[in-house]
Amino acid sequence: MPFDHFLTRRILKSTYVCEVKILAGEAGTDYKPLIEPYRQMRGGIIEALHALMRAYHFIPPKALKDLAKAFRMTEAEVYGVASFYSYFTTKEQGAYVIRVCRSAPCHLENAQGVMELLEKELGIHAGQTTEDGKFTLEWTECVGQCAHAPVYTINREPVTEPKNVFSEQIPLLLEQLRQN
Ligand code: FES
Repeated sequence: MPFDHFLTRRILKSTYVCEVKILAGEAGTDYKPLIEPYRQMRGGIIEALHALMRAYHFIPPKALKDLAKAFRMTEAEVYGVASFYSYFTTKEQGAYVIRVCRSAPCHLENAQGVMELLEKELGIHAGQTTEDGKFTLEWTECVGQCAHAPVYTINREPVTEPKNVFSEQIPLLLEQLRQN
């Protein structure tokens, strides 16, 4: 079976993997240098949130405080912005967030089997993150690719291969991502 290297490239292109994630959550982490370039910019808080997501894959609690100071807002207001948009999250997650669709069409096409295979390969259960911070595994609802059910996404990129190749494709794909 030819492996879809194009898919891996698409996922990697949409992902900014960096080393600073290990600093996230440390009480002394200074997020100001990352926020500063956006402070005077119109809509800068959104750009600053994107920058934090690229660097840490989530918005750490102390970053909310630093954002509030930088943009002269309350922490509740900053949290309101961060939680309004689905592409920001304040929940710690891995560099690659894998979501298996469990809505009816995917459920009927063995979404459970896809999830079990991913759980086995990653050694975690749905809702967990691998110890190295690389992968988070979650359920999701319909991602609009029902014709290709069952579907899972990696950092929002839908993986829509025929279901009979999942068992071969998933280990190969994860291996590619582990190396990046
Ligand atoms: S039901 Fe799974 S993509 Fe729509």
